[in-house]
Amino acid sequence: MVFIKTITLLCLLIAVKGELRRFPDTLSFGVATASYQIEGAWNATDKGENIWDRLTHTTDMIKDRSNGDVACDSYNQHKRDVEMLKQLGVDYYRFSISWSRILPDGFSNRLSQDGIAYYDSLINDLLVANITPFATLYHWDLPQRLQDLGGWSNPMMADYFLDFAEVVFEAFGDRVQNWLTFNEPWVVCLQGYGGVGKAPALNMSGIAEYLCAHNLIKAHAMAYHLYDDVYRPLQGGRIGWTLNSNWHEPANQYPADIEAAERAMQFHLGWFGHPVFSTEGDYPQVMKERIAKRSLEQGYPRSRLPEFTTEEIAYIRGTYDFFGLNHYTTTLVRMPTTISKELSYYDDLGTEGFEDPAWPGSASVWLKVVPWGFRNLLNWIKENYYNPEIIVFENGFSDRDNKDDVDRISYYNQYLNALLDALEDGCNVTAYTAWSLMDNFEWLQGYTERFGLYYVDFNDPRRTRTPKASAFYYKSILESRTIERD
Ligand SMILES: *[C@@H]1O[C@H](CO)[C@@H](O)[C@H](O)[C@H]1NC(C)=O
Ligand SMILES: *[C@@H]1O[C@H](CO)[C@@H](O)[C@H](O)[C@H]1NC(C)=O
Ligand SMILES: *[C@@H]1O[C@H](CO)[C@@H](O)[C@H](O)[C@H]1NC(C)=O
Repeated sequence: MVFIKTITLLCLLIAVKGELRRFPDTLSFGVATASYQIEGAWNATDKGENIWDRLTHTTDMIKDRSNGDVACDSYNQHKRDVEMLKQLGVDYYRFSISWSRILPDGFSNRLSQDGIAYYDSLINDLLVANITPFATLYHWDLPQRLQDLGGWSNPMMADYFLDFAEVVFEAFGDRVQNWLTFNEPWVVCLQGYGGVGKAPALNMSGIAEYLCAHNLIKAHAMAYHLYDDVYRPLQGGRIGWTLNSNWHEPANQYPADIEAAERAMQFHLGWFGHPVFSTEGDYPQVMKERIAKRSLEQGYPRSRLPEFTTEEIAYIRGTYDFFGLNHYTTTLVRMPTTISKELSYYDDLGTEGFEDPAWPGSASVWLKVVPWGFRNLLNWIKENYYNPEIIVFENGFSDRDNKDDVDRISYYNQYLNALLDALEDGCNVTAYTAWSLMDNFEWLQGYTERFGLYYVDFNDPRRTRTPKASAFYYKSILESRTIERD
């Protein structure tokens, strides 16, 4: 039924719009998931507790009071997941490795053989299916033991992460040649340490997110160098990280608003992008200046933004094999009428962000459909970071409970058209990843917001998966390598 409707819809789209645009042969396609959002088996054998286990079990912060104890049950059903990937016809699968499933205590003195066996099995099945594994080392599920020691605000965490990375490269690097160190460090630090939007919900804005970022950036660079020095010569392969960013569009063409939008880009993407992707390295100048000045005005003896040494700047700069990008939506930015003296990242940034009420929405308050923002963002990266190879690791749309998901199809159609526009502008995007393979645990929103190409029945103990209309749509794009012009 869904299938028939999709075919009708596709014919209709083609009949109405007519023109097809072709993707270059150099562009590959995949889908993504993350360990805590799909695996379940939170207490299988010797797996350790992580910060999402703790947050979901001990607070009432999850909208539907749910948790990831079972989630999509992928720990037991990864063979079904691989079947779905084959049905879609993707080139690669982006998944993440749960730190506390591999190292139950967080430290590398004790390895879980069952945890390693799980990822071995998944990776081997992917290779048999001729699907390239793309593994993320950290998709937000820090072992709780390490959080008890301060998590990413503790400088030692970079060493512990390096130990974890070494175990993972050693265990899987003979078969996995594509690596991401971190998923969305901005979210990890800003929402997890500055605010309460993600675990560990530390809520110490103006201080904690900058500490978190500082240690996390070093951890990334250390893992990159380990791979580059030791594993790349043996295993080949490539490694980077993936940064999330909205496009920040000036609300008006007043110089003050143009400057505010650019500042928002630097505080958002530049915070993590500038140290790694620019030629001079280090945090963006505008962040260093503003935070230092405001810190002094607030009576602090030094900037709340920690400083890198000259050696650290050189060590961190260039630690990438590609620019990883997660993108969903756009924000309009203007200069506020008064600048607040409060202690927070957003007050340091000092801009006002809002949405155009005409933009179509989704099930997520933050996600509006603004495809031209994707094109602008890709061009901003091209211009600011010397036209790097860009891999889009997440892009997608949320709805509630709907297998005939025409709005998701429309989102993908429009955003993929914007990607083709960006390619025509000269941006070097080599891969595109849809978020997500299937509906899953959407963090504080629990199971109330769905991003999947496959529908998951969370009331069914078997967690039955059914392709939505968008799964057939994505499959048809991958087969034909064309899309209707929007
Ligand atoms: C694992 O957690 C589930 C709840 O998700 C609980 O019912 C079960 O007893 C736990 N198993 C063990 C071995 O602790
Ligand atoms: C987070 O901190 C802010 C500012 O100190 C406070 O107003 C808010 O209530 C805190 N939120 C939670 C959930 O603790
Ligand atoms: C895009 O990046 C790839 C990988 O680095 C490179 O081989 C290719 O030449 C680049 N293409 C363009 C048009 O710059």
